[in-house]
Amino acid sequence: MARSSSDIVVVGAGIVGCAVAHELARRGASVQVVEQRAIGMGATHASAGILAPYIEAGTDETLLDLTVRSLGLFDNFIARVVAESGVPVPYHRTGTLQVALNDEEMLELRHAAARLEAEHVAASVLDAQAARTAEPHLSDAVVGALVVSTHGFTAAGDLTRALAAAACRHGARLIEASAVGRIVPKNGDLIVDTDRGAFIGGAVVLAAGSWSGQIEIVGVPARVPVRPVRGQLLRLAWRGSAVRRVTWRGRCYLVPWDDGTLLVGATVEDVGFEECTTVAGVRDLLEAACELVPQAWKAGFAGAYDGLRPKSADELPVIGASRVVPNLMYATGHYRNGILLAPLTAELVADAMLDGRMDPALAAISPQRFGDL
Ligand code: GLY
Repeated sequence: MARSSSDIVVVGAGIVGCAVAHELARRGASVQVVEQRAIGMGATHASAGILAPYIEAGTDETLLDLTVRSLGLFDNFIARVVAESGVPVPYHRTGTLQVALNDEEMLELRHAAARLEAEHVAASVLDAQAARTAEPHLSDAVVGALVVSTHGFTAAGDLTRALAAAACRHGARLIEASAVGRIVPKNGDLIVDTDRGAFIGGAVVLAAGSWSGQIEIVGVPARVPVRPVRGQLLRLAWRGSAVRRVTWRGRCYLVPWDDGTLLVGATVEDVGFEECTTVAGVRDLLEAACELVPQAWKAGFAGAYDGLRPKSADELPVIGASRVVPNLMYATGHYRNGILLAPLTAELVADAMLDGRMDPALAAISPQRFGDL
């Protein structure tokens, strides 16, 4: 039996679901958010919150355009959600320091710097001495570094809770501990069936991260091709002066959190839905962190975390309406960039659903690139 109805049901209360719910509710829609666990307990739970398109997007032009555009929305996004929720959200645009430990890595940084210069992005290449002046904790083995000053980071968990609180202030309802099994079109509406009853929406946003492909959508033959990629992270109880900014080498990054801990990320593991931390993951991250900043050997160990990043078949997000069930909107597959892409995703989804405005950016990230979705 149906329990309650709203204009829109958002499935998933991670960063993307909460950002979308907030934007829809802020613009006047009645919204219910249905979540199988609790707010932000999927990939968001183990997110470093790094905002670094010029590192994360690599050479993918589509991803670079999306992430740079979303980064440009961040100041207003954070200011608004803090004002509306009353929840403080740590947010720093202190840049990133990408570090090279050998000549080959330095060459890569020089190539990256040349690409940034061609795009008129502020970046500076540092020699070994300048790199250690910029970050005194760096190992003596460092040969140079690249600074991108517009990059930054935020606290993903706090931001997600703030978005949920702000959405609720605009009238949204959050239903946790309700696992969605299927979505059923009925009389023009969509019924979201959960293990704790059904919710009716005039439309549904599917923002269930790695679990998006596990939800049956009656009448839609294909499932959205999103698969989990595990990331493990560590928190170190740092002693002494703090690391100054996001510091990155290869797959290892360090983020100095406001509470004095240093976050170390992240593994990239294809292990299905296995959610756990491992000895190998912790060891690899500790070794990588200590190679970069030897002072890390003296830090306390404050915990290890894991989360499943939702990776689509082409590593781009999947945002747009279903062709088969047009009042079903996908907002998933954000892989390594869920936090960074949250403001833009919320805007694109709300523009499309509430105003019928189809941003040209949607063409490259449409669900239809994967067939009859
Ligand atoms: N965005 C960082 C990560 O996915 O590890």
